Amino acid sequence: MARTPGPSRSLATCRHRCGLACARTAPNRSGNTPFGDLVRAEVSRRGLLGGALGALVIGAGAACTAVPSAPRDSAPATPTAASPGPSLAPLAFEPVPPNRDDAVRVPDGYRQRVLIRWGDPVLPGAPEFDHERQTAAAQRQQFGYNNDYLTVVPLPDPERADDHGRRGLLVVNHEYTNEELIFRRYDDKAPTAAQIGVAMAAHGMSVVELERVGDTGEWRLVRSGALPYNRRITVETPLEFTGPAAGSALLRTAADPDGRRVLGTLSNCSGGVTPWGTVLSGEENFDHYFVGGDEAPAAAKPALDRYGFHTKRRHPPGSRHWDTADERFDLAQHPNEANRFGWIVELDPYDSESVPRKRTALGRFKHEGATIVVAGDGRVVAYLGDDERFEYLYKFVSEERLQTGDSADDRRHNRGLLDRGTLYAAEFGFTSAGEIDGAGALPDDGAFNGSGRWLPLAQGELSMIDGMALDEVLVHTRLAADRAGATPLDRPEDVAIHPRDHRVYVSLSNNDYRGAVGRPAADEANPRHDNKHGHVLELIETGGDPAADTFAWSLPIVCGDPDDPATYFAGFDKTSVSPISCPDNLTFDADGNLWISTDGNAVTGPGGDPYNDGLFAVPVDGPERGRVRQFLSVPIGAEQASAYLTPDQRTALVSVQHPGEVGGATADRPASTWPDGDLARPAVVVVWRAGDGLLGR
Ligand code: FEO
Ligand code: CA
Ligand code: CA
Repeated sequence: MARTPGPSRSLATCRHRCGLACARTAPNRSGNTPFGDLVRAEVSRRGLLGGALGALVIGAGAACTAVPSAPRDSAPATPTAASPGPSLAPLAFEPVPPNRDDAVRVPDGYRQRVLIRWGDPVLPGAPEFDHERQTAAAQRQQFGYNNDYLTVVPLPDPERADDHGRRGLLVVNHEYTNEELIFRRYDDKAPTAAQIGVAMAAHGMSVVELERVGDTGEWRLVRSGALPYNRRITVETPLEFTGPAAGSALLRTAADPDGRRVLGTLSNCSGGVTPWGTVLSGEENFDHYFVGGDEAPAAAKPALDRYGFHTKRRHPPGSRHWDTADERFDLAQHPNEANRFGWIVELDPYDSESVPRKRTALGRFKHEGATIVVAGDGRVVAYLGDDERFEYLYKFVSEERLQTGDSADDRRHNRGLLDRGTLYAAEFGFTSAGEIDGAGALPDDGAFNGSGRWLPLAQGELSMIDGMALDEVLVHTRLAADRAGATPLDRPEDVAIHPRDHRVYVSLSNNDYRGAVGRPAADEANPRHDNKHGHVLELIETGGDPAADTFAWSLPIVCGDPDDPATYFAGFDKTSVSPISCPDNLTFDADGNLWISTDGNAVTGPGGDPYNDGLFAVPVDGPERGRVRQFLSVPIGAEQASAYLTPDQRTALVSVQHPGEVGGATADRPASTWPDGDLARPAVVVVWRAGDGLLGR
């Protein structure tokens, strides 16, 4: 039924993370509807999984993967095929009940400690955090705000060079800032230059050296020594463009007439790791940092509009006024600066002097993250979500193959793999199209499912879209995917790859505009109108080949309160399932259990207030497939932004983003005082079992 939409997520989140995008019309007006005439036959999962499955999984935190070690001045270790991992018992823990506690809650028998929080020193000699006298100069040396994606890459133990299980580098995205929670008496109509400077320096990424505490599952920061790897990336750090669109006229500005060099990375949301030891980071909601769109040249406006840039008021609600500190954020003066964000960034955490790269072959959109898997023939595949309502799922397949040697030539070769290949967008077909009415009832064939195909947008040096040049396809990828006929999805966020058989899991977070007046109705891949709780997509590439151009798909989990009939947990008994809402980041443990972080829990408690977000674990195989259990909850107003599970399965590092982000809360009147009892501070928390216990068992 058509209805008038409205934002379901906290308005405070909308204002700061996406510039109130949720209160505006979603920018996809392509009218794309999925083709129902794709292969309609039920696809045999067994048949699809029967192919060669020799791929290497290096997913966003794919826990069983031996992440290669590549310390400075030495070659990365040879990537190894996904190991079967330790033989683990089934998940067995007492779920954390839904709650609204201003605390991180873990099951009985687990321990937790804050590892690092906003403002803690990162660079050698960085000042201690001083909230009342924070400066941009201090913040550039300290842990940034709103940590999102995190991962750990290994370092050898200085005393046991072959032991990569005792030291590592934590790599973290800092997605955005909550100025009203950072600064006392913040006036969002007239922020000071000093406040803008602090906020700019609190964006970006951090690299921080870690070490294991004794032989326990606990990890801590390395505080002493030269800290040669520790690094902050901010909006002032030089990066370079690589790939087919580098140097394009669309990327040239007054400050960079060659279109090859850009200052900073913005809105870094999720990410991934590569087999060659680098970390990928997705630039997501970059649009709302810019003003002046209405005065931009007419030729630039269709693309600005398609990416959601404000084109009317100069400083709409939520504007950070960055144009007053740096004119490149004024599109009236520098319209192409908009095109220089929205990319996948590749960072070498082992070289603190390295220049991070924006990989243009992976397209430009509101990148959630990039999850890498290596196909059986050695080609590298990246799965990419565009996190906005009615946007698309993409993948990139490299032209060249991964070289598994350790020579300088091998390393140079591998570091170019993401610069040349084919970029696709996904189109979904259905088996039960006529039965989908938006209410969420399961079709007669027992599944939301179908098949699909990957639509090529760009291939090597060729545009695959009539009327668009190659650089236009890569810079204005949403417009290219519109023309190709990609299927609009309910906010495609993170992707995780099953460590054994390479099934692809995609979180579709929510979409309260689905079925609204003038907006696309429900379809089998997005089966609920006013989708407040989201769902999880399982995608099986034909032949189990990540480079395939067709796939089968189904929805194993349709989220929400299990008491709601419009939920589905792979057929598992709903009375023993935890409520789960708004799946966001995904990762697998070594045994193939999916761990889901949530952002924006819309399941409410007795008082009508939403429960806190959390981390959930669910088997995707066997008799417990679909049994979602809550492992952890985060404080009031926080998002459980991401989790990294260590390969030995003893430790989880979890990213607690924007605690206290509640409408009306300020630094002077906080809604959360986590973690220290005074100011709310985003932080990374380490969770481990006492003794030798394994997570979740
Ligand atoms: Fe930054 Fe899609 O979450
Ligand atoms: Ca069906
Ligand atoms: Ca996210």
